[in-house]
Amino acid sequence: MDPQRRQLLITTSVLGAAAGAALAIPLLSSLAPSERARAAGAPVEADISKLLPGQIMTVEWRGKPVWIVHRTTEMLAALKQAEAHLVDPGSTRPQQPDYACNAHRSIKPEIMVAVGICTHLGCSPSEKFKPGAEQGMAADWPGGFFCPCHGSQFDLAGRVFKNMPAPTNLEIPPHRYLTAARLLIGDDAKTA
Ligand code: FES
Repeated sequence: MDPQRRQLLITTSVLGAAAGAALAIPLLSSLAPSERARAAGAPVEADISKLLPGQIMTVEWRGKPVWIVHRTTEMLAALKQAEAHLVDPGSTRPQQPDYACNAHRSIKPEIMVAVGICTHLGCSPSEKFKPGAEQGMAADWPGGFFCPCHGSQFDLAGRVFKNMPAPTNLEIPPHRYLTAARLLIGDDAKTA
């Protein structure tokens, strides 16, 4: 290749790379704030339209798992059954917003929303929804969650049983319904 042509090719490549960089910078700077906001705890939306009774789904909010459980009529009845054995059945301690200070610890009785992190040392409890001994629990187990790390047990509203390592109920995050099927986790401005 003659030297003049080679120089032309080099110049074209350099200009092309510079133009690419100029395009990339605005794109990156437009993405960065939302990523930062997400990391800092922006609310997240959950579509619960396909969550059937008895099922659980998990969404991530502020790096934590948030459980959404569609409780059945039987599960709601089990909440009553567990009450005598719970540390804080009336949710008087500050693990939930005001609108979750009720027997079911939620806005709608059938939908539970809770942070899936054990209040002892932060392990992730497992779901043990079936009452009785079928899932390796005691025969009088009413259904709930079991923390495999040190054995804490929580009912189907995330309330801790007495004499467990975990001192308090699971945390209920701020949340509200955008529609019947869309939940916003991390923002309850119109609910509180
Ligand atoms: S971390 Fe759950 S019982 Fe210890």
